[in-house]
Amino acid sequence: VAALVCGERLMAGAIGGPFPLEVRRVPPAPGSIPFLAAPRTYFLSARCALMAVAEAGKFRRVWLPSYLCPSLFEPFRRLEVRFYPVSARLAVADASWVREIEPHDLVIAIHYFGFELDSFPRALVAAAGARLVEDSSQALFRSQWTETYAAVFSPRKFIGLPDGGVITVSADGARTLAAPPPEWWLDALQVRMRRDADRFRSFQTVEATIPLGSYRASDLAVAMLENGTDYSLIRQTRRANYEILLSRLRDFAIFDSLPDDCVPLGFPVRVPAERRDAILNFLYANSVYAPVHWRIAEAVPARLRESHVLARSILTMIVDQRYGPEDMHRQAALFLEAACA
Ligand SMILES: Cc1ncc(COP(=O)(O)O)c(C=O)c1O
Repeated sequence: VAALVCGERLMAGAIGGPFPLEVRRVPPAPGSIPFLAAPRTYFLSARCALMAVAEAGKFRRVWLPSYLCPSLFEPFRRLEVRFYPVSARLAVADASWVREIEPHDLVIAIHYFGFELDSFPRALVAAAGARLVEDSSQALFRSQWTETYAAVFSPRKFIGLPDGGVITVSADGARTLAAPPPEWWLDALQVRMRRDADRFRSFQTVEATIPLGSYRASDLAVAMLENGTDYSLIRQTRRANYEILLSRLRDFAIFDSLPDDCVPLGFPVRVPAERRDAILNFLYANSVYAPVHWRIAEAVPARLRESHVLARSILTMIVDQRYGPEDMHRQAALFLEAACA
């Protein structure tokens, strides 16, 4: 829907949409982002990093959470997929599935929206002999991965980069990676530099055609991640924006407090499923491009009911570093107008 809006409105007071690439040099501030202090490999995307994990081990099966981005299936096409249940509050409340784990299974845990998945039965999964991969694609600022097999990040969800996925504990450090395919990459770069009406549509095309394989990140993405990003500003702004939305929209919040070390991806809210799309349309009509993380109807078996209910009820209000208090209050007011109509 956001694809239909005109570019002028996107620039004038719009909230949301793809991050633009802003090239500037920012002196690295050690400690401002934990992944930069870890041994790491830069892939073209988190999916490419996950595929490297899947192919490096002798895995037969992967356990995926019932609430997930459907793109997460792509790296595991060669493995048998099992699901474990995630509650409507995004917690792993039931650990009985762990009994079915076999040694050499791969298990993926997602740290949703930047929040630590404290409920995950980490010790039980380790005791069962599985390898745990922490999907921190939505939690770029996470710092706790030392005991895990691998942690994966997707900085494009926080910063305007054409490509990039990071893995902090490489399962296969010696693998040679190819440069991003140039045709795709130039399109991805161009999208991040555009301001015109079709920008969102082109962004969707680029994301839908992202190459999956043994590809590394571009030198531009690595340079930006290591020397061109003000992580302290991103941390502060997102947290301050989250607190404002929390003060206005607490009753709708999925996470109703902000832990000290959390840097949120967005502010997910739950609304009645039958009102959700009307609320989204109202927000779009007022230039607030709230995404839906995620639409899982086709991807996850219907028996995992709580996740389906959540997927029909959720939307994500925007807290990113492009916006300040005024934008947050405008967003909150629009949301309340729609949700309480
Ligand atoms: C939780 C999660 N993991 C992985 C991915 C894939 O990330 P990438 O686009 O970098 O491959 C996504 C993408 O949306 C995601 O939300």
